[in-house]
Amino acid sequence: MFRLRLKEELEFLRRSNLYRYLRNREEDILDFSSNDYLCLSKHPEVIEGVKEGLRYGLGATGSRLTSGNINHEVLEERLAEFKETERALVYTTGYSTNLGVISALCKQGDLILSDRLNHASIIDGCRLSRADVEIYDHCSIESLVNILEEKGKGYNNIFIVTDGVFSMDGDIAPLKDIKKVADEYNSVVIVDDAHGTGVLGGGKGTLKHFNLKPSDNIIQIGTLSKAFGGLGGFVCGIEELIEYLINTSRSFIYSTALPPPVVSGVLKSLELIEEGGLTRKLQGKIRSANKVFRSYGLIERDSLTPIYPIILGERTMEISEYLLKNKIFAPGIRYPSVPRGLERIRVSINVGHKEEDFERLSRLLAIFSL
Ligand SMILES: Cc1ncc(COP(=O)(O)O)c(C=O)c1O
Repeated sequence: MFRLRLKEELEFLRRSNLYRYLRNREEDILDFSSNDYLCLSKHPEVIEGVKEGLRYGLGATGSRLTSGNINHEVLEERLAEFKETERALVYTTGYSTNLGVISALCKQGDLILSDRLNHASIIDGCRLSRADVEIYDHCSIESLVNILEEKGKGYNNIFIVTDGVFSMDGDIAPLKDIKKVADEYNSVVIVDDAHGTGVLGGGKGTLKHFNLKPSDNIIQIGTLSKAFGGLGGFVCGIEELIEYLINTSRSFIYSTALPPPVVSGVLKSLELIEEGGLTRKLQGKIRSANKVFRSYGLIERDSLTPIYPIILGERTMEISEYLLKNKIFAPGIRYPSVPRGLERIRVSINVGHKEEDFERLSRLLAIFSL
């Protein structure tokens, strides 16, 4: 009988040091793996919100178009206000938001320009679309303009897609310049602010960080699974964009809506983010981490975000295991999540960390950079 040759492929991954496996999360560990930047996933008010939402039941029991809204529209109104756009639409994950938005909007006869280091969900959204896709060099306006000049003629629509804050590097897309290029070349910017929301611009994200006003040719995507501490994704933009997505975006239409308790929980997260104190606290922690990591030679430049790539190359996984034995969880990241040769430990800090935590991590990591 025919058998897929999976064992051989798995063996190949093992030999190439690319084998992935799941581990249990330990309780008494210093955790630098989480994207819960504001520690909202366990915040008492958020937990109360979740309990309030339970009166609607555990699950949404169907897609919004077939089973209707429960508390989803309240969240969408609040997200639109927060991002200062006409409307918002919530999806079940950030991943399905990128997939659903990009594949619905970008069609045959369109061109997508995508940053080389964009998140996998953007890459997959581009693949699902029927548009032509060109990759520009990471954060390079020169590369973006060169491609537009050389290959940007004759298309119906042009989209420039970028992470706001890059998930594996923690750097920020030059959004102000990207917007200028978009205006010049009559194109639309799609910015995935998964790691910028709650972190930059007083919590409002990368647009606010650059003092950019939302406009008709900017589509903002976000996730409720990182700084919000919950689950879900959203897109914000003009009225007809949201109506169009409700009518055509397959990952929105053909998937069960977010569980109502999650919606109520992230509504509380949103209130807490809007107060601004948690984002200010996070910025203080980033300053403290910058100081400590720099003093140990782990970073060359200060970060503006809570993501620190400590590039260690081939020894990355071994060093991550060593940290784990010392009760520190800082995950090793390998190809294809990052380019070959740039394997790294992705250190992600949050408002719960203390300066001594950064010291403890740095002391252990410094052994390997000697
Ligand atoms: C930049 C970026 N976009 C989208 C996603 C997907 O979001 P979610 O985890 O909510 O599916 C992630 C998460 O890994 C991300 O880093």
